[in-house]
Amino acid sequence: MEGIGERCLFMKIPKNKNSILKSQTAKQKIKIAFCASEIFPFAKTGGLADVAGALPKALVKKECELKVLMPFYKNIKPQKMCNGYGTSEVGGIDFIFIKDDYFFFRDNLYVTKDGDYSDNLERFNFFSKQVLNILMKINFSPDIIHCNDWQTSLVSVYLKTIYKDSDFFKDTKSVLTIHNLEYQGIFNKEKFSVLGLPWNCFDVNCLEFYGKINVLKGGIIFADIVNTVSPTYAEKITTQKYGCGLDGVLRNKKDNLIGVLNGIDYDVWNPETDEHIYKKYSVTSASKNKAINKAKLQEELGFLVNNEVMLIGMVSRLVEQKGLALISQVLNEVLGKYQLVILGEGEDRYKELLKEKEKEFKNSFTLTLRMDECFAHQIYAAADLFLMPSKFEPCGLSQMISYKYGTIPLVHHAGGLFDSVEDVSNCGGGIIFKKYNAKDLMTALDRASKLYENKDSWNVVVNRIMNYDFSWARASDEYISKAYRKLARVLSETV
Ligand code: GLC
Repeated sequence: MEGIGERCLFMKIPKNKNSILKSQTAKQKIKIAFCASEIFPFAKTGGLADVAGALPKALVKKECELKVLMPFYKNIKPQKMCNGYGTSEVGGIDFIFIKDDYFFFRDNLYVTKDGDYSDNLERFNFFSKQVLNILMKINFSPDIIHCNDWQTSLVSVYLKTIYKDSDFFKDTKSVLTIHNLEYQGIFNKEKFSVLGLPWNCFDVNCLEFYGKINVLKGGIIFADIVNTVSPTYAEKITTQKYGCGLDGVLRNKKDNLIGVLNGIDYDVWNPETDEHIYKKYSVTSASKNKAINKAKLQEELGFLVNNEVMLIGMVSRLVEQKGLALISQVLNEVLGKYQLVILGEGEDRYKELLKEKEKEFKNSFTLTLRMDECFAHQIYAAADLFLMPSKFEPCGLSQMISYKYGTIPLVHHAGGLFDSVEDVSNCGGGIIFKKYNAKDLMTALDRASKLYENKDSWNVVVNRIMNYDFSWARASDEYISKAYRKLARVLSETV
């Protein structure tokens, strides 16, 4: 009886003025300016681009109005040109590409083969200031500016310093998402004048970090809410072991530090509709059609075409964080038993080592050293197992993509992988190893191989993971409730 009474309460028509006002404001959209240094499909070097491409798409389907801002890089072709920026309207979202040919018309986003561009501070300082200038120019006064990583952290800093008395931004709050705490934007003190901030901002409670400028630190201090891309990583970064020197700053922020697990974009990653792959498939056709994709890839790579041999895929930056040190140790053993295909760019030491191995194990290993979206899709579709032995992982998207493609992920239980992968022995969808060492990685691989030998059990897991839902629909709801609505006072009255 009680239950029915409660339900009736919700169905009452608002009669007093206050509730009418609330029901009207409930329709009010949250105005969000979302800025990032890379956004798929316009520019991509890693997971940040995928997130920055997908989250706005999910938000615009909810109660949000979006302007998305990024640099105008060399390959970008906007639909319309304005003074100082280009624009494109895609799916109800206005993209704004901030132009400066000297800063952004370059071959790469952040680096040359000799290391980072020496003027990265100047470039992203310019971008951050222009974000605010252009928002004023187009008269879009946002409730929230959502910044991502160090490259856009200065937007949060400037909102609370240079623009603190601005009428235009007086109700604007900022959210900063950290995709990887390892990259902080650290520069020599001599560059401080680039920012145009008073010297008292070069202070331990502001941008100073061991005698240098730390842009991400400034962002963390000045953003109203700091978010990172999984709940476990949000906890880990407040510890000395994973805090990359900023654990103290993050502990001070703990009342406004949240962790929202990323999702993936099923418009991009879906074997039923994927134009890049040889044979499309759904849950029901997976066991047959995945084998066709696998045979095709085996043939193209010059491997033995045999479904009994487990094909392992890896699409990753080739850096220590992604577990390359462990992989190097087990490579001989792995390549003696299984087939392995690796795609990605990265550090020279790993590239050289892997290239050597490729020569030695021509029939069971290929290494492709480039960013190749199309080939990435083909690997996800063809591989049986996806290798992800990350030393630490803020979130990780590959395990979620693997699920969708019925490719079982093998992961080290770290960060976002802890939040998104359960072991098959627990009715989950992945193979997990807990201690970060080569022996445990090899044991996990052998466990995967045992499971693979029993095709019925393997297919039960494939079926299970393809039905998982890691869409942005859930993750965007969390951003709205845990960050945007919490900050925008007027809007939060409607919840
Ligand atoms: C970074 C992180 C990765 C995360 C991605 C998107 O690339 O290393 O774990 O999934 O950003 O947030």
